[in-house]
Amino acid sequence: MRCAVISRKFDLRSYYGKALAKIADRIESIDHPVTDGAEAVRIALAWHPHPDAFERYPNLKAVCTIGAGADNVLACPSLPPHVNVVRVVDPAQAEMMAGFVAWHVIWHQRKFATYMQQQRDRIWRRLEQRPASDVPVSILGYGKIGERVATQLAGLGFPVNVWSRTPKSAAPGLRAFAGRNGLFAMLAETEVLVNLLPLTPETRGLIDAEVFSAMKHGGYLIQTGRGEQMVEADLLAALENGQLSGASLDVFAVEPLPADHIFWHHPQILMTPHDACDVSFTAVANTLVATAAAIEAGEIPPHAVDRSRGY
Ligand code: NAP
Ligand code: GLV
Repeated sequence: MRCAVISRKFDLRSYYGKALAKIADRIESIDHPVTDGAEAVRIALAWHPHPDAFERYPNLKAVCTIGAGADNVLACPSLPPHVNVVRVVDPAQAEMMAGFVAWHVIWHQRKFATYMQQQRDRIWRRLEQRPASDVPVSILGYGKIGERVATQLAGLGFPVNVWSRTPKSAAPGLRAFAGRNGLFAMLAETEVLVNLLPLTPETRGLIDAEVFSAMKHGGYLIQTGRGEQMVEADLLAALENGQLSGASLDVFAVEPLPADHIFWHHPQILMTPHDACDVSFTAVANTLVATAAAIEAGEIPPHAVDRSRGY
């Protein structure tokens, strides 16, 4: 099946070249814009597509992303309403995210930022430490990745709360919350807040001053969902007034983060360049193959997002 490879930000074909070569007998991948035989294109592999990208492919049936979040494809103005958008669900990615989040929770719990500063200042001073059981962590989003992150943190001894859109019965040892009222009940018992939500109209701008002030004083934010979900000015104010003691930021409203942005040199912010976890090459290739098979069978591809709810 012919597949257009589309991105205005990354060279997907060279990044996924080896994985695409392995499935070349099933998927013929061609860089966008496909000039010869665009009408034969039935699937696309896309990440941050050009706004008019999909106009060129009248017989497109599905667009596969290269990540868990499909927001940048769903936002493309030329995406026809009938086309399925398929995200990657990769247990190895969830595992990597669980390690990333655990590292940052422990960074906060064990005061490692202070130790780094003490090392620079050649100060030998032991700090008072708290057990994991004294540091409640709450996770916004109890989906494929949030679930793995929650289990990992609970295994490390942290009290863990999870928040979803629809009510869930959480795994043993976790407390589940849902909806707006549930969010504020959970925040009252939150020292570390981890964002693992998809970007939708409901979650855009969700993490704001009201959320920060509902958390325990001196709390910590781990921002691993999407940048647009957090109000930057409210984060800076919460750090300034001490409501938050720090934040780990992996995602930003504008990526790459502009060189003159205050986050680069903020003493309470630890940054990574949208690299909390990777999807494996194999998972991307498998998603394309499974999507092509479903299209041939006239079925909805596995992991197609619900376009009406936005994830
Ligand atoms: P998922 O399986 O679709 O789970 C999404 C979760 O968010 C579900 O529990 C869902 O609730 C909840 N949710 C959605 N809208 C909500 C709302 N308005 N209020 C409360 N909860 C809401 O997604 P996933 O695979 O876990 O991935 C989650 C997100 O993580 C991705 O969309 C992406 O933004 C981010 N991510 C970031 C990186 C990175 O490198 N930084 C890597 C991977 C993923 P229900 O269970 O009720 O549906
Ligand atoms: C990364 O941000 C992803 O959505 O997989």
